[in-house]
Amino acid sequence: MDAIRDGDIDPAVLAGKRIAILGYGNQGRAQALNLKDSGIDVVVGLRDGSPSHDRAVADGIATASLAEAASSANVVMLLAPDEALAAIYREVEPSIREGAALGFSHGLAIRFGFIVPRSDLDIFMVAPKGPGTALRSLYLDGKGMVALYAVEQDANGNAKAIALAYGQALGCGRAGILASSFAEECEADLFNEQAVVWGAVPEILIAGFDTLVEAGVSEEVAYMECVGELKLIAELIEARGIAGMREAISNTAELGAVIGGPRIVDDGVRARMREILAEVRAGRFSDLLRDEEASGYPRLKVARDKARQLNVEQARKKLIG
Ligand SMILES: NC(=O)c1ccc[n+]([C@@H]2O[C@H](COP(=O)([O-])OP(=O)(O)OC[C@H]3O[C@@H](n4cnc5c(N)ncnc54)[C@H](OP(=O)(O)O)[C@@H]3O)[C@@H](O)[C@H]2O)c1
Repeated sequence: MDAIRDGDIDPAVLAGKRIAILGYGNQGRAQALNLKDSGIDVVVGLRDGSPSHDRAVADGIATASLAEAASSANVVMLLAPDEALAAIYREVEPSIREGAALGFSHGLAIRFGFIVPRSDLDIFMVAPKGPGTALRSLYLDGKGMVALYAVEQDANGNAKAIALAYGQALGCGRAGILASSFAEECEADLFNEQAVVWGAVPEILIAGFDTLVEAGVSEEVAYMECVGELKLIAELIEARGIAGMREAISNTAELGAVIGGPRIVDDGVRARMREILAEVRAGRFSDLLRDEEASGYPRLKVARDKARQLNVEQARKKLIG
């Protein structure tokens, strides 16, 4: 699959158009600022009494209510938490102009039917593959973040052109924009969050730390070994790939890695990864997310408290403060 880059993209489809960004958090702020610096007319839509209002004003971004922002724009981008998007869409749907475009940075709300959009709207996705802070700092450095784009509904024949021009205005065309679909992006993203980088990796770090401490190793040494080296491997993999990373470390570390890694990540782990992917595809996680929001996030509150109490966190405080 070829990445689409700036030279392949015609920005004309967004010339003279206004984009409403609904939400001014992690992605909303970065996207609004990058669009503005790319010469796009941007308005941020916020709920009444939003604590983000003053920040947007200080950033020199025009603000309005959610409905006013949506009604004034040719492109409306939904950039609030995924579980909040359905309520926001219900509120602004009557205000969105006939034939406008509605954009997302994650496929979940469409893939799992949280939102069933009006049939006259172009529905597109531009999903930068990283947090808003990095999207913004890369843009300011003259670089860009890789993004996925997709079209779910091409009511007016412009959805792909709008998605690519939008991604270009975010700076993503400097790095590459890859074609995907709402379903593929969403399923792969939810899978990774649970089974790989965000779910499994921290659990491996905690389990490794606990194993060493139980065996009499000091918390400080266990922390430096099991957690402190994560940044080093991440940087090496980014710069050289997995094979290059292995060649860059000592023979001792490389032999240990090739013997120990597959003993930990064995067929049982791969089977459970397939289970998680099947559950994601069946919509079990999206149901859980909806329930969690409806009941005030009880599971997340307990998990956050528990994580702060972990021995590995106490060790970090002793070492780093
Ligand atoms: N975070 C990432 O790294 C990342 C990366 C790629 C894609 N994405 C996707 O980008 C989208 C936005 O995610 P995010 O992490 O940027 O979200 P976020 O930071 O949690 O969004 C916060 C913003 O949403 C607003 N908001 C929250 N609930 C609202 C409600 N009920 N009504 C109106 N506004 C509400 C907040 O309003 P107030 O200011 O009034 O509190 C705030 O401005 C999601 O689809 C996500 O999957 C995120």
